[in-house]
Amino acid sequence: MQDRFGRRIDYLRISVTDKCNLRCKYCMPPGGVERIPHGEVLSLEELARITGIMAGLGIRSVRFTGGEPLVRKNLVRLMEAVHELENIREIAVTTNGVLLEEQLPGLMEAGLTSANISLDTVDPRTFREITGADACGKVLAAIEKCAASGVRTKINCVPCREWNAGELAEVAALAKRLPVDVRFIELMPVGCGRQFHGMPSEEVLEELVSAYGPARPLKDGKKRGNGPAQYYEFEDFIGKIGFISPMSHKFCGECNRIRLTAEGRLKLCLQYNAGVELKPLLRNGAADEEIRAAILEAVEQKPMHHDFEQMKTDCPAEDSDSRKMVQIGG
Ligand code: 5AD
Ligand code: SF4
Repeated sequence: MQDRFGRRIDYLRISVTDKCNLRCKYCMPPGGVERIPHGEVLSLEELARITGIMAGLGIRSVRFTGGEPLVRKNLVRLMEAVHELENIREIAVTTNGVLLEEQLPGLMEAGLTSANISLDTVDPRTFREITGADACGKVLAAIEKCAASGVRTKINCVPCREWNAGELAEVAALAKRLPVDVRFIELMPVGCGRQFHGMPSEEVLEELVSAYGPARPLKDGKKRGNGPAQYYEFEDFIGKIGFISPMSHKFCGECNRIRLTAEGRLKLCLQYNAGVELKPLLRNGAADEEIRAAILEAVEQKPMHHDFEQMKTDCPAEDSDSRKMVQIGG
């Protein structure tokens, strides 16, 4: 599949639930968010059907997100179905890691190839402050287990002046002792993220260089997996350190992804609402061919780039997605 700017779309992110077992400050408001009624969330069968159609259209990688994907019952069943699709080469999850240790064997059997685990601090107190839960040890145990299992393991850390600015070198140290990549993601002004102050990648890199010495940008540039991360090597580190910089270095020109929300909306860009509701088609007996046409038509409308800079200063644009990150799926 190609969009009208010639970008090849081969990566699908599926939000399988809007539920989450953590309450990260920058993702969820203190009172929680309005939940999607159960019947409005796509069933595993519906998700498998859409993914099958997408695989026929050129999707090669599928990532399960949430909310927290591991709280969705029987996620492994969906994963098994996706694993059986001929063209799918990569099956990934983006998880907060709380339930990962116990679920890892089942997920691996179902075809999991890669896990992104969110961790903003290795300090249990800071962890509790950010997420509201005493689960730092659990997540660290999951990271160790996942790294040892052969599943490609990446840590996602969002640097923020309000909570973890002084603790980033410690998070990066996970890549020193374990075969994991640690990626620092610039906070985007989406949902609750707007109330906090993220840090530019440049500044984080400087901090790491003063802690660990010079960093070499990876020779093959950003070509390490699917995403837009720019990777660096540090002396004596096993894993790489990556930076995802949607604010300071827009990477939309290379965007290869589309998103399916838990209630069946195909979204073309994290920021915008533009897209198409697939659920009515699914539930009104549409044939695969009709769904395929709707997907292709939607992909045509994929925006050229996000406009987060403007969102920081202006009121949110009418057509920007006003929902919280937990509802969109990161
Ligand atoms: N900006 C950047 N990253 C965010 N995440 C959640 N909200 C934001 C935001 N506003 C991250 C989480 C997790 C992933 C799913 O998205 O930290 O790693
Ligand atoms: Fe792609 Fe939208 Fe993200 Fe830009 S903001 S990289 S267009 S999904």
